[in-house]
Amino acid sequence: RASSDPAFAEIQPWMQELGDPVDAAPYGMPSEFEAHVQRKTVYWLTADPISSINFTPLHELDGIITPNGLCFERHHSGAAHVDPALHRLMINGLVDRELVFTMEDLMRFPRENHVYFLECAANSGMEWRGSQLNGCQFTHGMIHNVMYTGIPLRLLLAEAGIQTAGKWLLAEGADAAGMTRSIPMEKALDDCLVAFKMNGEALRVEQGYPLRLVVPGWEGNMWVKWLRRLEVGDEPWHHREETSKYTDLLADGKARRFTWEMDAKSVITNPSPQAPLTHGAGPTVLSGLAWSGRGTIPRVDVTLDGGKNWHQARMSGPSLSKSMHRFYFEFDWNGQPLLLQSRAHDSTGYVQPTKNALRELRGTNSIYHNNGIQTWHVKKTGEAENVEVS
Ligand code: MTE
Ligand code: CO
Repeated sequence: RASSDPAFAEIQPWMQELGDPVDAAPYGMPSEFEAHVQRKTVYWLTADPISSINFTPLHELDGIITPNGLCFERHHSGAAHVDPALHRLMINGLVDRELVFTMEDLMRFPRENHVYFLECAANSGMEWRGSQLNGCQFTHGMIHNVMYTGIPLRLLLAEAGIQTAGKWLLAEGADAAGMTRSIPMEKALDDCLVAFKMNGEALRVEQGYPLRLVVPGWEGNMWVKWLRRLEVGDEPWHHREETSKYTDLLADGKARRFTWEMDAKSVITNPSPQAPLTHGAGPTVLSGLAWSGRGTIPRVDVTLDGGKNWHQARMSGPSLSKSMHRFYFEFDWNGQPLLLQSRAHDSTGYVQPTKNALRELRGTNSIYHNNGIQTWHVKKTGEAENVEVS
C-alpha cells in the first residue's frame, strides 16, 4: 500500500468526457478491460471443434455463480439453434397418456429455482496419468454453477402417468447428435428439472436453449440439452453415451458402468498457473472452489507445503446441496516456494482422495471421474505450475 501515487493525480480521459448514454448496450457486456476473461479450448484435445469442449475461466471468477457467457461448452454435434416456437417436448413409452408439450404448455406448470453445478465426467480427465495442463481453467474448467428455473420432472411425468413397469427414462436431445441417456426413474422423480432459465435469463444456445434436463449432482453428460423427448421404459437403453463412452475402464480391463454421481472435489483457483502471485512476499488471499454430487461441503482443508500441514479454509457464500462452494485462506507469504493443495470434505463424511489413492483403486485407463487432489507449485517468482507430489 502506497501513501502517495502519481497515478492518482493524472487526469484520465473518462474524467473529462461524457460517458455512454443509457441504451448504448441494450444487452450489457463486461468492461472492455475484462476482454481477456474468456472460455478457451485446447485445440489438440479433440479432432474437430464441432464435437469438442471449451473451459470455464475459473481463475477469473469469484463467489459461486458462473456467468452465463462463461459457462463451458460441450457439444457432440455443435450448438443447435432451436426455435422455441417450433420446439416440442414429447413424453412416450410406458405411460398412460403419450403427451407432446409446446413451450407455452410448459410455462403453465409450477416451477422451482435451484443452484446446481454441472461437471462433465471428463473434467480433470487429462490428469489421470500425470500433471499435464497448466491452469485450473484447463484442469478443472469443465464445470459451471448456475441457478436454474425449471419444472420438477416428476410433475411432467405425473401428467403422462408412469406405468408400474416404468423404471427408466430415456432423455433425447434435438441436436444433430441426438444425444440420449438412460436415467433411473428414482432419480427422475427425485430432484431432476426441465429447465428453461439460467441465472434468471433464458438458457443460452450453448447450454441447450430453450430446454435442458437438470440432473443434480450427476455427470454432465446426462443433462441433455435441447431436450425434445422423454421415453419411459423398463430397462436402461445402453446407448452409445453409456457404453462406448462414459464408462470407466479399470486396470483389469473391466469397466465401471453408470458412474452417475460426481464425487467431492475442490481446486485452488488463485493462485494458479494462469493467476500467479505478482505482489511479492506479504499478506495474500488464496481462493478456491469445492463441490459434491452428494450434498454440501461443510469443510475444505488447505496446505501450503504439499500436505505436511493442513489448515481449515474459510467458507464464504451460500452452502447449497450439489452446488459449488467458495473457500478462502488468507496467509502471509514468506516469498518461498509453495506446494498448494485443497481437500474437500462433503456432508456425507467423504474426503477428497489423493490422485495416487485413486490410481490404486482405478488404474490409469480412465478418462472420467478424476476427483483427486490438485497441486500447484508456486515458485519464488510467484509463478505457478501444475505438479504432483508423491
Ligand atoms: N446434450 C445434447 N443434446 N448434446 C450434447 O452434445 N453434451 C453433454 C451434455 N448434454 C450434450 C448434451 C455433455 S458431455 C456435457 S458435459 C454437458 O451437456 C455440457 O453442458 P454445457 O455445454 O452446458 O456445459
Ligand atoms: Co461431458
